[in-house]
Amino acid sequence: MDSSKTLFIREFFQTFTTTGAILPSGRHLARGLAAPIRDIQGPRRILEAGPGTGAVTNALIRELQPEDELTLCEINPSFADHLTNRLNQDMFWSSRRHQIRLVQKDVRELFEEGRFDFIVSGLPLNNFPSPLVSELVKGFIESLSPEGSHTFFEYIWIREIRQHLGKQSDRERMKNISQIVDQHLSEHHWSRRPIFANVPPAWVYTVRV
Ligand SMILES: C[S@@+](CC[C@H](N)C(=O)[O-])C[C@H]1O[C@@H](n2cnc3c(N)ncnc32)[C@H](O)[C@@H]1O
Repeated sequence: MDSSKTLFIREFFQTFTTTGAILPSGRHLARGLAAPIRDIQGPRRILEAGPGTGAVTNALIRELQPEDELTLCEINPSFADHLTNRLNQDMFWSSRRHQIRLVQKDVRELFEEGRFDFIVSGLPLNNFPSPLVSELVKGFIESLSPEGSHTFFEYIWIREIRQHLGKQSDRERMKNISQIVDQHLSEHHWSRRPIFANVPPAWVYTVRV
């Protein structure tokens, strides 16, 4: 097993709430999350929230044009160290090193920083308390430039299943998250597409101001 997968599995058990998945996103999901950047004119300021071991980052780097800037914001120091190693050692990544900034912090600290043209989030919203989900979806949309877009994913059926299984408090939390996400989507232009070639299959959402 490669080092990205081993690290992901370890962090899944040690920091379940923030990691939220047992494996990194697969290639098709990563490309699906990065693809809407093609609709945005360059040069582009790009933010990836929660890059983990860099599965989606790799797809974003493939899309980078020479004037683009990519900020990677990762809360978990073990993932941030892994990303630093990739930036220094992976030939493809290091060729774009001058365009990439890695920050190890909570992405909410970047919401004051100014506008991004494209934000990709890998954050496991369904693991979070509902007030945090509210704060995050609002912060992402408010951090977008007028022509910008935000993509995020969730596993298909996961919210529906978790609304009916598990502890009462967790079922309530999932219902609240569903309301927050539905309300958020209803206030913006959005689309979603399924990525079946991922384990588990996922929806990719794209939201615009
Ligand atoms: C489900 S993993 C996704 C990793 C990667 N994007 C992928 O698709 O394989 C969630 C990631 O979000 C990070 N994360 C969770 N909360 C965060 C926060 N508030 N700010 C920045 N990163 C966060 C976790 O540490 C983890 O790397």
